[in-house]
Amino acid sequence: MKTVQTKAKIISNKKIKENYWHLEFESAIIAKNALPGQFVNIRVGHGFVPLLRRPISIYAVKGVKVKLFYQAVGTGTQSLSQRKSGELLDLIGPLGNGFDYRQAVKAKDARSILIAGGMGVAPLFFLAEKIKTSQPLVLIGAKTQKQILCMQEFKKLGCTVKLATDDGSLGFKGKVTDLLKLVLGQTKGLGLFSCGPRPMLKRVSEISCENKIPAQLSLEEHLACGTGACLGCVVATKSGYKRVCKDGPVFSSKELTW
Ligand SMILES: Cc1cc2nc3c(=O)[nH]c(=O)nc-3n(C[C@H](O)[C@H](O)[C@H](O)COP(=O)(O)OP(=O)(O)OC[C@H]3O[C@@H](n4cnc5c(N)ncnc54)[C@H](O)[C@@H]3O)c2cc1C
Ligand code: FES
Repeated sequence: MKTVQTKAKIISNKKIKENYWHLEFESAIIAKNALPGQFVNIRVGHGFVPLLRRPISIYAVKGVKVKLFYQAVGTGTQSLSQRKSGELLDLIGPLGNGFDYRQAVKAKDARSILIAGGMGVAPLFFLAEKIKTSQPLVLIGAKTQKQILCMQEFKKLGCTVKLATDDGSLGFKGKVTDLLKLVLGQTKGLGLFSCGPRPMLKRVSEISCENKIPAQLSLEEHLACGTGACLGCVVATKSGYKRVCKDGPVFSSKELTW
């Protein structure tokens, strides 16, 4: 894997709704090397404020263009939302270990199931693009209808999409993990791929174990250096502590301890 630190030209940085943004930049080398589940670590401001870079998953790649999908939640991502097209963005990437989707593309009598909570749609959309010929099933969960993200984009790829909202305002009423249990009663799952809040990933892990289906989970912990040097992002695994930024962010559910 080739990781670079580069100053990439911003092609566009557009608000798509509320505090959700699409940012597209140009980097032939990142575009060529990026794999689903990997991320870029961005110096979001013009100088060193904020000091720490912010990690954002690679959402899509087209030619030499790389697209990110982010939610402006705090100082760093709000700074990022102020960046303008034509400016240079200092970033490092692609970073981390992404999803292993070699089996998923070969799927015939069973389907890959992608389970996204909130912004967890971002790395899973890039994955869906890679495995779209195997017609993955995508489950998207959120608190309410307004927070359901990327439904149309996944459908355009040819994925079957099912939704779950806590308040029942759209799709299944309840947690996306309850929907997953229901779906696994009717569909043969080849493998689970998931990204979202920790409690959701823990439940996906339990369901994968109960159903004897492998699961790959992408963790979105708080990072510091983002390059494996500071040990600020370690999580407990069966083989000791591992760094989310370098050994992950994608881990096998069998590996993680909760
Ligand atoms: C590998 C990886 C990939 C990511 N991909 C994306 C992505 O594609 N799109 C996207 O919008 N976000 C993504 N994130 C989360 C994103 O990095 C954080 O939202 C961002 O760093 C917050 O910075 P901030 O300064 O805006 O917010 P802060 O001021 O640092 O925090 C604002 C609020 O967000 C919470 N928060 C901060 N970081 C995280 C986090 N990592 N996970 C959960 N809550 C957090 C804080 O607790 C606080 O409540 C990813 C994180 C990781 C580790
Ligand atoms: S953030 Fe420094 S090792 Fe992961």
